[in-house]
Amino acid sequence: MVDLHAHLLPGVDDGAGALEDALRMCQLAAADGVTAAVATPHQRHEWWPNADRDDLVARFESLLSAVGATLALSLGAEIRMDSELLAEVDLLPDGSLLPLAQSRYLLLEVPPTRVGPDPRAIVHELAIAGWRPVLAHPERVPWLAEEPGSLVELVERGALLQLTAMSVTGAFGRRARECCTFLLDNDLAHFVASDAHDVSKRPPVLSDAFRVIAEGWGEARARRLTEDNPRAVLEDRAIQKDVA
Ligand SMILES: [Fe+2]
Repeated sequence: MVDLHAHLLPGVDDGAGALEDALRMCQLAAADGVTAAVATPHQRHEWWPNADRDDLVARFESLLSAVGATLALSLGAEIRMDSELLAEVDLLPDGSLLPLAQSRYLLLEVPPTRVGPDPRAIVHELAIAGWRPVLAHPERVPWLAEEPGSLVELVERGALLQLTAMSVTGAFGRRARECCTFLLDNDLAHFVASDAHDVSKRPPVLSDAFRVIAEGWGEARARRLTEDNPRAVLEDRAIQKDVA
């Protein structure tokens, strides 16, 4: 399996604190059957802006050499969607932002309250410019999850949706799980990732969600969301839309 969203980079946000913590997370992921993962520190978040890309890359290189062959690691970021986002994206490949594994995919975090720009407008602009916007855990964004129609519209405009594994299993409660069920029933989910922060409360584990999806929607779907689609991101290819 391939995990596109994990706070593995040590010392930059609310994820791994020290290098040893990150190594334990990588070992746990590997033991769970994850073969590749993207370290996705927060960017543009009010508490963790992480605007110094060179610093993030240097930290990533240290992590990479410590992890060795345990896990194939790439670097990306979970980028907060705000009114300056499009201007920052225009600076790429310069500027501060880190697309997922140097691809055209951007992992974006919609603010928890309805402030700032309309995500539909941002997704539309990014898609037109040839970017592939991936929305991190929409099922955990209350104002999106409460309006399934808004999620349908976002996907129609080019958004790809990343469910968090613990939402799929019900560990984040009934509402998040029901939103995942709606998205899976309507084939609006494109990735499952761990959004791991540590080895205990929010671990880098995908196998439980894999089982839930395999039981409810079939093994091919589970594989597509945890392996095939995230692999396409690492290789910067378009994902395969559902053919079932
Ligand atoms: Fe995250």
